[in-house]
Amino acid sequence: MSRGEAEAIIQVQVEKLIKKYENIVAVRDLSLDIYTGEILVIVGPSGCGKSTLLSCIAGLEKPDNGNIIIDGEPVFSKERNLFKLPEERNIGMVFQNYALWPHKTVYDNIAYPLKIRNIKKDKVKSEVRRLLDIVRLYGKENRYPHELSGGEQQRVALARALVMNPKVLLLDEPLSSLDAKLREKMQYEIKGLQKDMGIAIIHVTHDQNEAMAMADRIAVMKDGELVQWGTPKEIYECPQTQFVANFVGKANIIDGVVERYGDKKKIVFAGGYIMREADIDGDIGSHVLLSVRPENISLSKDKGAVKGRVAGVNYRGNTMEYRILVDDIHLMVETSSNELYAKGDIVGCEFHKINIVK
Ligand SMILES: Nc1ncnc2c1ncn2[C@@H]1O[C@H](COP(=O)(O)OP(=O)(O)OP(=O)(O)O)[C@@H](O)[C@H]1O
Ligand SMILES: [Mg+2]
Repeated sequence: MSRGEAEAIIQVQVEKLIKKYENIVAVRDLSLDIYTGEILVIVGPSGCGKSTLLSCIAGLEKPDNGNIIIDGEPVFSKERNLFKLPEERNIGMVFQNYALWPHKTVYDNIAYPLKIRNIKKDKVKSEVRRLLDIVRLYGKENRYPHELSGGEQQRVALARALVMNPKVLLLDEPLSSLDAKLREKMQYEIKGLQKDMGIAIIHVTHDQNEAMAMADRIAVMKDGELVQWGTPKEIYECPQTQFVANFVGKANIIDGVVERYGDKKKIVFAGGYIMREADIDGDIGSHVLLSVRPENISLSKDKGAVKGRVAGVNYRGNTMEYRILVDDIHLMVETSSNELYAKGDIVGCEFHKINIVK
């Protein structure tokens, strides 16, 4: 089978999932497919239902409605009154507080899931060795968790989650307690693991950079629903809503008005046009919301249909961050650090890569 075909196999199928806690609907009619060999990163504000979704897939929570299919096997179906326990599902999990057993060595922590299943001693030994190799902890198997660094403990938790050869790995913010350097290293390691083992990973994070760096696809959740999903590039470059534009990256949300432009249309903001001759939906005179990334506004002394005044300047090393006041609206603009304007300068703004959002 070619790699392309292998990647098209659906590993986890979530259909019309609903999970309520008393009067809260934590997951709302949510459907999602995750493919073999894919890292799906779920992002969304606190309380939007990310952990609940993962717990439902893991079998730690029983949903109120819908279906969950893992590796072709239904593990939950309201209709068929089917609910498989976590140990009957082929999954590994690392949660945010990935508690290792403090009084067990690295070896015993990793071996535990095998031992409780009465796997033969020799097999346990060879499997733990295989995992120690994968997470590069060979030689540290006799240490206790407190004798390991945060990143090493993290890798033990990963090894423990992987020891049963799961088809699906669920990661709920497992890297959030690590410092930035270590986190980046672990991101690469998890990505590497996934490529080597060909498993599907669902990874929840609050960290946008982490989402961008790790994801094959990003799913954005809000109030228990999936509001948009796609590759990091699709999500970043074509956010469909104001919420997604602001949640993933920085965005200027601009209220534009549709005006006539010959036999076409243009979108006007603060007396100047920002989009012209485009395929614009909307009647003449109607308002549209636009999202423009800070790096997609260019500044110049004498060009640009929209004029503004530099209200703030921030040196960021490789970039400059400007606040441009257009009428009473602040625009965030990011340019290369050799484009210099001073506070009070009048500049022209040109807009590139604009999205109409809801
Ligand atoms: N056991 C529970 N009992 C009652 N309500 C719960 C329970 N677990 C979660 N909730 C509620 O369900 C909603 C979703 O919670 P969830 O933990 O899934 O959010 P989350 O997206 O993981 O948030 P965070 O980013 O803060 O971890 C929240 O409103 C939360 O208060
Ligand atoms: Mg959570």
